[in-house]
Amino acid sequence: MLTVSKLSASYGAIQAVRGVDLEVKARSLCVLLGSNGAGKSTTLRSIAGLHRPVSGSVNLAGQEISRLSLHRVVRSGLAFVPEGRMVVAPLTVEENLALSGFAGRNADPRLVDKIYALFPRLAERRKQKAGLMSGGEQQMLAIGRALMTKPQMLVLDEPSMGLAPAIVDLVFQAIVALHKEGQSILLVEQNAAIALSVCDYGYVMRRGQIVVQGTPEELRQNPEVLEAYLS
Ligand SMILES: Nc1ncnc2c1ncn2[C@@H]1O[C@H](COP(=O)(O)OP(=O)(O)OP(=O)(O)O)[C@@H](O)[C@H]1O
Ligand SMILES: [Mg+2]
Repeated sequence: MLTVSKLSASYGAIQAVRGVDLEVKARSLCVLLGSNGAGKSTTLRSIAGLHRPVSGSVNLAGQEISRLSLHRVVRSGLAFVPEGRMVVAPLTVEENLALSGFAGRNADPRLVDKIYALFPRLAERRKQKAGLMSGGEQQMLAIGRALMTKPQMLVLDEPSMGLAPAIVDLVFQAIVALHKEGQSILLVEQNAAIALSVCDYGYVMRRGQIVVQGTPEELRQNPEVLEAYLS
């Protein structure tokens, strides 16, 4: 379980995240919604050790991780796929996956087969240099790299961003399949309709704060969510 309490984060004088509380239960898929600039990425970056919070705590399965260095956060079991993907452009698909395997807690080469089963496109392109692949393929590889670390908690920032609808479907089918297997997931997504169709629980952020939370059914009926995200 991931528990975030009273998390605040700033960029100089800009208070991007102000006292955020959220919880992702083990084996659940939790979504964080919000419009541009609401503070979603800053929340995720603070959780993942890429941005040092001003205050608050981030607890993963009983361990405080908010002030750990990035590689220690990964070793504690949290894998983050940032906005804009992170693949090593000059390396091939299989080299990218192997490299991430070393960063994890329990490097396991068999994970590669699991990732190729999840994303057959990656299997077809295993010898291809990552930098020459489409945005969708790079997103799949970025998720694959995160999975190579065998995360307890997978954290994804807008995996659908900039992708064609057919590719968004493939990426979401994979997210749903991972969730069914019991992978715990925290997902930031702009497309509320898709997000609410797959999640167990959701939070809505506005100006650095959580303003609404609930089950997908509750959120779909919430007037603010309806107006801002589903109309
Ligand atoms: N590197 C930065 N330096 C300064 N201000 C930043 C930086 N990154 C984000 N901000 C500001 O912090 C606030 C929250 O930004 P953040 O990127 O967390 O929002 P977001 O919800 O992820 O938005 P989006 O939907 O556009 O990805 C915004 O006001 C943004 O301008
Ligand atoms: Mg963002």
